[in-house]
Amino acid sequence: MSDTLLTTTGLAVSYGAVKAVRGSDLEVKEGEVVALLGPNGAGKSSTLRAIVGLIKYQGSVTFAGEDLTGAPTERIVSMGISMVPEGRRLFPQLTVRENLLLGAPRKAKIDALFDELLEKLPILRERLNQQAGTLSGGEQQQVALARALMSKPRLLLIDEPSLGLAPTIVDAVYQILADLRKTGLAMVIVEQEVMRVLKFADRAYAMTTGQIALQGRAEDLLASNEIKKVYLGGA
Ligand SMILES: Nc1ncnc2c1ncn2[C@@H]1O[C@H](COP(=O)(O)OP(=O)(O)OP(=O)(O)O)[C@@H](O)[C@H]1O
Ligand SMILES: [Mg+2]
Repeated sequence: MSDTLLTTTGLAVSYGAVKAVRGSDLEVKEGEVVALLGPNGAGKSSTLRAIVGLIKYQGSVTFAGEDLTGAPTERIVSMGISMVPEGRRLFPQLTVRENLLLGAPRKAKIDALFDELLEKLPILRERLNQQAGTLSGGEQQQVALARALMSKPRLLLIDEPSLGLAPTIVDAVYQILADLRKTGLAMVIVEQEVMRVLKFADRAYAMTTGQIALQGRAEDLLASNEIKKVYLGGA
């Protein structure tokens, strides 16, 4: 018996001659919140995109006891992994409702899904018919989160939730993540705001130039100076 949800083994991503990820071993347990840290260009987004099958990679990905290596994104999503991409990637001309529907599985019972979602994110209720591009940054982040939740994931990969948001809005986003955690949802959070995410996460990995340089319990990393070295080391 193991409570491991996700494992990547020797995960490697190349873009032509650029080796963005050079063999990383990651693990996420059921219900666990894992931070993925690292300076710009370290390979964080590439790691998430590989896990959800959006880019080609070497190595293997196992989720909930199944080998998902090389599986198409649709299957990965139906197995229970969902991603909130860096920069939210909403369709600005579409309404909130239309954006959310893009995250729904093909045969989903949409009304029931919406009811569940709006219970978790009530602020979206009055925005459903508003064009996504006219929402504030914080609201757009909530729509991006909600879209990812439409597939009822067991594991949510979140790429830079606080990007471009004012500190009080970041607080609100993390409050939502805290509520989601209580439902048992596991998360991998890529975050530039290292201190904030280390206070939130159970465990963390820190990448530099495509490799995992450091890993451990978030509270241990928070207490040590190692994490600062990783950040300053590349500078
Ligand atoms: N589509 C692409 N084509 C070519 N190179 C790419 C592509 N996407 C990413 N890269 C390169 O791969 C490396 C890792 O990029 P990635 O986006 O994974 O980093 P990151 O850790 O998410 O960085 P950031 O913090 O800036 O978002 C970088 O050197 C980047 O320039
Ligand atoms: Mg990135």
